[in-house]
Formats: sequence, structure tokens, C-alpha cells
Amino acid sequence: MTPSSDPTSILSRRDFFKASGLTIGASALANVKVPHVFAQGSDQLRIALIGCGGRGTGAVVNALGQKMSMKLVAMADVFQQKLDNSYKSIKAKFPDQVDVSDDHKFIGFDGYKHAMDCLRKGDIAIFTTPLAFRWVHFKYAIEKGLNVFMEKPLTADGPTSRRMLELAKQASAKNLKVGVGLMSRHSHAMQELHKRIQDGEIGEINFMRGYRMQGIIGSAFSEPWSGEPKELLWQLSRFHSFLWASGGAFSDFYVHHVDHLCWLKNSWPVKCHGVGGRTFRTAPSGKPYVDQNLDSYSVEYTFQDGTKLFMDGRCMNGALPIYSSYAHGSKGMAIVSKSGDCGRPSSTYKGQNPSKENMLWTSPDPKVADDPYFNEWEDLTDAIRNDKPYNEVERGVMASLVTSMGRYATHTAQEVTLDEMLNHEHEYAPDADKFTMDSPAPVLADANGLYPVPEPGRKTKREY
Ligand SMILES: NC(=O)c1ccc[n+]([C@@H]2O[C@H](COP(=O)([O-])OP(=O)(O)OC[C@H]3O[C@@H](n4cnc5c(N)ncnc54)[C@H](O)[C@@H]3O)[C@@H](O)[C@H]2O)c1
Repeated sequence: MTPSSDPTSILSRRDFFKASGLTIGASALANVKVPHVFAQGSDQLRIALIGCGGRGTGAVVNALGQKMSMKLVAMADVFQQKLDNSYKSIKAKFPDQVDVSDDHKFIGFDGYKHAMDCLRKGDIAIFTTPLAFRWVHFKYAIEKGLNVFMEKPLTADGPTSRRMLELAKQASAKNLKVGVGLMSRHSHAMQELHKRIQDGEIGEINFMRGYRMQGIIGSAFSEPWSGEPKELLWQLSRFHSFLWASGGAFSDFYVHHVDHLCWLKNSWPVKCHGVGGRTFRTAPSGKPYVDQNLDSYSVEYTFQDGTKLFMDGRCMNGALPIYSSYAHGSKGMAIVSKSGDCGRPSSTYKGQNPSKENMLWTSPDPKVADDPYFNEWEDLTDAIRNDKPYNEVERGVMASLVTSMGRYATHTAQEVTLDEMLNHEHEYAPDADKFTMDSPAPVLADANGLYPVPEPGRKTKREY
């Protein structure tokens, strides 16, 4: 049995997980003859958007801007308003490439099926809901023979990580092309940096650092549910607050740095521990914050060879903001992301001081076109057009799992291994495939409107 056909073999075959620039599915497919999946009888691909929020709208805009001829034909969301806003915004930009009649707009938790039913084999489904539904939607897309673009993170817990790894194999076996929105790897600047590091420009990597420290952003901090809309829908509208929906602030905000730093190292950490806390639990309104996040995290990841990766995250108004990443080698160092998730320029230096005099290389001026959100679609559509093996799910799951490991270790205040995280039995949204508009939320408020939260050192076997 090859590693790719046995998800349980994952951690004993670490080389299989090398986070190289190659998509993992490519190796699995090298000797397998599978049919070319490109919507038959047409040179125009159809797109269905599932999850019509900010990123979903952005992903469709990235898709419709490609050379390949594409048309948006179906949309699904759980909120009418979100779908309507997204439709208007995309239609205004691409009037001729949006053809979504009212009976191709679906509201509800089963909307994903109806939207994908509007596609033909080889068309593209986009998944940009919070992560709780990735495996549900991916499973159906595979059954329908659809190519997929899905946003990060892919999982927040062990059971869904194992499930997604299994689904990834099924997608590769059907020769489906699947892109994952870890866009750093599609930044040309970071690809060049990756090559330079592999070529030894800064020597052996000794340690790496990622920082995403900012004010209170997204829906990470929540005041109590007011009773409207229904609790499940409200939690989804505040998905950064709930671990079942998103993996919380840690997974949603920090996965990019974790992913691209592991890529530079060509491997995944095997264990970690972390410290974190929550200083303010009362909102300026005087109401309590009821979300499941800490406000600060500092995680020390360890790779098999002892190399360290430090990931610091903070959501705190008034505190020092830092949003960048670095790699330190035996001969020099690199600024990986100068600003943001993968913001240019990337650059390398001799020694450990990133001064102008020490600079060895810097990526082209940020004004040169290199939009990783556009590039990731260029790569996906190139694979579809030219029938190249393309499946980013496995590395997307691993990046998500490593990120979850850091969050879990901090929330429990224990050392956690990758094997333990992958094989953990706690599934945070076990019935995500059965949700209806009337389903109870996976976590319920107590009489005071509070939800279960991590208690580091007290709750050590589960996060909450
Ligand atoms: N790659 C990146 O840089 C990047 C940037 C932003 C967001 N994202 C990711 O994209 C995803 C969405 O984020 P967003 O900022 O667009 O959030 P958003 O809230 O703006 O959009 C999510 C949409 O999904 C809808 N939705 C929720 N559950 C659904 C379901 N079961 N079926 C159909 N629709 C459902 C919501 O109503 C909402 O309209 C997240 O996973 C996020 O991490 C990635």
C-alpha cells in the first residue's frame, strides 16, 4: 500500500509529507491512467459558488478574470442577503460571465447540492463557507466529478482531517483538480525564495518566526447571542468565535504563516507546546465576550530534526502590531513575508541582520503583477486545461492540522504531537452534513449566554 492510499500511514512516512512545491496528488497519480476531466462538449467551464461572503466573491472574481472561459451559473448560501450582495458585486464586474437565474440561487444547508447539480462533470465548485462544511461539500463534488477550489483552513480537528485526507485520495483517483486557498505558495516571490533557500542561500534553516499580531478583527470576539438569527446561523455569521466553525482565530488567522514557513522547511513539525491567555473578557459595552478564543498565543513547534518554528498571534487593541515572517539559517536569514500573509518583497541577507548592506536578494518591486490570489487560479485552470495532476488538499489538510495542533496545545497547556492531533477523536461539528436551518448549534450557550471555553491546564484532554 502506498502512503497516499493509507491515511493512517501518514506519520510513519514523513518524507511523503514533505511540504515541497509539488502537489502531493501528483506523485500518487504518476503511474495511473485516469480520464481527463474537462467539462465535455464545451470549452467554457461553469462555476458554482458555495458560501457567498467576502472571500467567495473574491474567488469568483479571480476565476472569471482568467484566460480560460468561465461562467458563474449557481450560488448557495445560508443568508439571502449575503448571496444577493455577492451576486450584485460579481455581476457588476463581469456582466457577461454571470448567468445565475433566480432558480439557480439556493438558500439553506442543502443549497450546496442544488448548486453543484447545476454543473456538468469537470466544471468547478468553489467552497468558501467557514471550514466546518469542507468535507461535506468536497464529498459531494467528488461524487459529481467536479473540479474544486476550496478556501483554507480545511479542518479544525482530527476526525475531519482524517476524512479529508481520504477524500483527497478519492479526488486524485478521479483525476479531479483541486486548489486550496493557501495562496502564499502561488506567490512568485515566495516561490523564488523557496528555491533560493533549497539552493542553500541562507544555509541550513535553524529556526523560523511568524507573527500575526493586530487589533480585534473579524468575528473573533463576540458578545452574547441576542436570540436572532437562530443560534446556529448566528454562530456561522461569527465563525471566528467558534472552534467548530473555523478553528477559531488561531486556525483562521495564522494558518498562512504556518503553511509557508513549513513549506520553506519542506516538512511538517512533529510536536509543539504553546502559551496563551485572554486578558479582557468584557466588551466595551460592558457585556461579556462569549467566544472560544484566547487573545494571545505563542506556539513553539518542533520539527523532526529539532528545528523550531515560533508562531505568535495576538488580537488586542493598542498592542504592538506585527504581521510578518522570517527564516533564519546557518549562513543568513530571509524576510519571508514583509507584511501580511505573503506580502512582498521577500528578501535574503547574509548574517542575521536584515540591513541593506547585508542584502543578497530581494523579490521584484511590489508593483510588478504577482497577485497570489490570481496566480492560484491560473495554476488551477492551467492544470484543468492541460490535464496536469493537481490536488492541493493533502498539504492543505496538513497545514490546517499543524495549525490546529498549535491551537490545541495552547488551549490545553500540554505538549501535543502531530500523531495525537491527527488521531484525536473529538469531532467539533459531527453532524455538519445533516444541518438544517432548525438544527441546534454544535455548542450551546448556558443560562448566562456563555459557551464552553478552553481552560489551559484544567481541561487537558479536550479543548473545551
Ligand atoms: N485565503 C485567504 O487569504 C482568505 C481570506 C479570507 C477568508 N478566507 C477563508 O474563506 C472562508 C470564508 O471567509 P469569508 O471571509 O469569506 O467569510 P464570510 O462570512 O464573508 O463568508 C462566508 C459565507 O459562507 C456562508 N455560509 C456559511 N455556512 C454555509 C453553508 N453551510 N452553506 C452555504 N453557505 C454558508 C455565510 O453565510 C457567508 O456568506 C473562511 O474559511 C476563511 O478562512 C481565506
